Amino acid sequence: MSEKTPFYITTPIYYPSGNPHIGHCYSTIACDCVARMKRMQGFDVMFLTGTDEHGQKIEKKAAEEGMTPKEYVDGIVANFKKLWSTLGISYDRYIRTTDDYHIESVQKIFKKLYDTGYIYKSAYKGKYCTPCESFWTESQLVDGKCPDCGREVTDASEEAYFFKLSQFAPKLKELLLDEQKDFLNPKSRVNEMINNFIEPGLQDLCVSRTSFKWGIPVDFDEGHIVYVWIDALSNYITALGYLNDRYNDYDKYWPADMHVMAKEIVRFHSLIWPAILMALGEPLPKKVYGHGWITFGDGGKMSKSKGNVVDPFILSERYGVDSLRYHLLREMVFGSDCPYSNEQMFNRYNSDLANDLGNLVSRTVAMIEKYFGGTLPVDKDFNDSDEELLSMTDELPAFVDETFSSLRFSEGLEKIFRTIARANKYIDENEPWILAKDEAKKGRLAAVLYNLLDTVRRCAILLSPVMPHICPEIFEQIGADESVTTWEASKTRHALKADVTVKKGRVLFPRIDIEKELEELDAMSRPARELPSEPMKEITNFDNFAALDLRAVKVLSCEKVPKSDKLLKFIVDDGFGERQVLSGIAKYYEPEQLVGKTLGMIINLAPRKMMGLESNGMIMSVRDGDKFRVVEFGDDIKAGADIS
Ligand code: MSP
Repeated sequence: MSEKTPFYITTPIYYPSGNPHIGHCYSTIACDCVARMKRMQGFDVMFLTGTDEHGQKIEKKAAEEGMTPKEYVDGIVANFKKLWSTLGISYDRYIRTTDDYHIESVQKIFKKLYDTGYIYKSAYKGKYCTPCESFWTESQLVDGKCPDCGREVTDASEEAYFFKLSQFAPKLKELLLDEQKDFLNPKSRVNEMINNFIEPGLQDLCVSRTSFKWGIPVDFDEGHIVYVWIDALSNYITALGYLNDRYNDYDKYWPADMHVMAKEIVRFHSLIWPAILMALGEPLPKKVYGHGWITFGDGGKMSKSKGNVVDPFILSERYGVDSLRYHLLREMVFGSDCPYSNEQMFNRYNSDLANDLGNLVSRTVAMIEKYFGGTLPVDKDFNDSDEELLSMTDELPAFVDETFSSLRFSEGLEKIFRTIARANKYIDENEPWILAKDEAKKGRLAAVLYNLLDTVRRCAILLSPVMPHICPEIFEQIGADESVTTWEASKTRHALKADVTVKKGRVLFPRIDIEKELEELDAMSRPARELPSEPMKEITNFDNFAALDLRAVKVLSCEKVPKSDKLLKFIVDDGFGERQVLSGIAKYYEPEQLVGKTLGMIINLAPRKMMGLESNGMIMSVRDGDKFRVVEFGDDIKAGADIS
C-alpha cells in the first residue's frame, strides 16, 4: 500500500487577550474545511491551531484582573477550545506558546540565529510611557500621547536584539514574484508587500525586549525576552518537533502546504517568516493565504444595531453549527472584506439550505416513499434528458477541489447550489406526480427519482467538509452507505444501489422566521431592563384621578425649617392666592434655587402638620435612584394653570 501524502495546514495562533469572536472563526473554519476535504481525499493531514500567549498586553490584562498571566490565558484558552469543539473544528494539534517544548525550541532558534550572525544586539528607540512602562512607535500614538492611558510619552531607548531582515529583501522579492511557486495569495497582496515594504527598504526587526517580563527569556542574556514574532511564527515548526523532543513530525510535514490568516498579518508571514526560515536554512512554506476581514457596522466594531448579536455560540446553538459554517464560507469572497449580517445569514439559509437543499432531500425521499414504499425498483428507464443534470454534477468534484484548496469556497459552493437548483428544476420538468399515475411509466419514474437521489448523494459528499454534521444525516435519509459517500465516490455516477431504500428523517433546515429571529437577537443584545424601584400600583378609575387638583404654582419664598435636615417651607402662589406648603427636599435643593420657579403641585390634599407647621398640598417631584428633581415648568406658565 502506498504511503499517504502529508498535508500540513495552519491557522494563525490567536492572542488570548480576550474571548474568541466570530472573526476568529473564519480562518479556523476555512482551515477545517480544507483539512476535512484533504482527509477525505486520502491525505495524511496535520491541522494545527493554537494560541499566542505572550506579550505586554496580556501581562497588563492579567494584572488588571488580579491574576498571573498564565492563569489569565488558561481561562481564555479554555474558551477558544470550547468554541472550536462547538464548531466541529477537527484540529490535530493545538499549540500554546506557553508549552514547555515550544519555549525550549524558541530559545534554541534564537541562539542559533545569534550564533550565525542573523541576530545582533543594538538599541531599540521609541516613544516611552513611564506609567504604563510601554514603548510605542510614532504611528501607535494617539494625538501624540500614549494610546493606553493618554499621558505624555518621551523619547527613550532600550538595549535590544535585532534580526537582519533588511538583508533578505532581494530574496524575498524573488520569492514573491516567482510565478511557479505562487507563494502568496491573493495576488493583490504581492504588490502590497513589494510596494509598501520591500521597495521602501526593509528595516531590521527588533526581536527582544527588556521592559516587560511575560515572554520567553533569551537564555544567554538575562533580562531580555523574545519579542513577538520569533516566538509566534516559530510555532509552525516547533509544533512538529523542530529542535525539541516532544514531537517527531518535522521531516514528515514540513514545509507547510498552507498558512491561512487575515490580511493584517500577511506581512509577517510572507516577509518575516520566510526570512527567519532562510536564516535557519530551513525550507519555506508552500503557500500563504491572506483572506479579508469579517467587518461589523460602526467601522469594524461589533454593532449594537438591530439583531446584530454575533456570538458564535448563540448563533450555532439557534441555527445550527453547519448553517453558520456554510454562511461564513459562502458569503466571504476570498481576499475581500465581508460585512457580517444576521439578516443576510437568514436569507441565505432560507433560500439555499431550507428551500433548495432541504426541500430537494425531503421531496425526493417523500416521493420514493409514496410511489415505491421507500425502495426503488431495479428496472429504470433512463433517457437523454437526464444528461444535463448528470454532467453538471460530473463537473463538481474537480471544481470543488480546486476552489476549496485555494480558499475560494464561495465559488465552489455557488456551483454546488446551482446544481441543487437544477435538480429541483428537473423535478418540475419530469413531473413525477404525473408519471406516477401511469403504470407504464414506473420505470421512468424510478429513473427520475434515482437521478435525484444520486445527485443529492454527490453534492452532499462535496458539502461534507463545510457541513460535517448535516451531511451524514442526508446520507442516512437517502440510503447511502459509507462505500458510496467517499470523496472518490463523488466522481462516480449512479453509485447508489439500484434498489436503494430511503428513510425519511427530521426536517434538516426548518425555515427561519426572519423578522422574529432578528427581534429576538435584538432583545438579547439589549441590556436587561432595569425595573423602576417603585412597583406599579393597582389600576384605579378615572374619577380617582380627576379628584386630584393638580396645578402649576409659583414659588414666592422658600427657607429651611429650623431643626430639620429634610424640610423646606414654601410660600407659593397657586393662582387663587398664597399658601404654605412643606416639602422634604432640603437634601437636594438650596432654598434660593427654587425661589421664582414654576412647579407642579397637588393643591387639594387635606392639610397636615410637620414640625409644628401646616402644609397645604404637595410639591410634585420625580425620583430615580439617587437622582431627584422637582417637576418644573417654564416661566411662561401662569400660577394656577391646570395639570392633567
Ligand atoms: N497572534 C497573532 C498571530 C500570530 S500567527 C503566528 C495574531 N493574533 S489575533 O488573535 O489577533 O488573530 C488575528 C487573526 O484572527 C487574523 O489574522 C484572522 O485570522 C483572525 N481574525 C480575527 N478577526 C477577524 C475578522 N474580523 N475577520 C477575519 N479574520 C479575523 O494576530
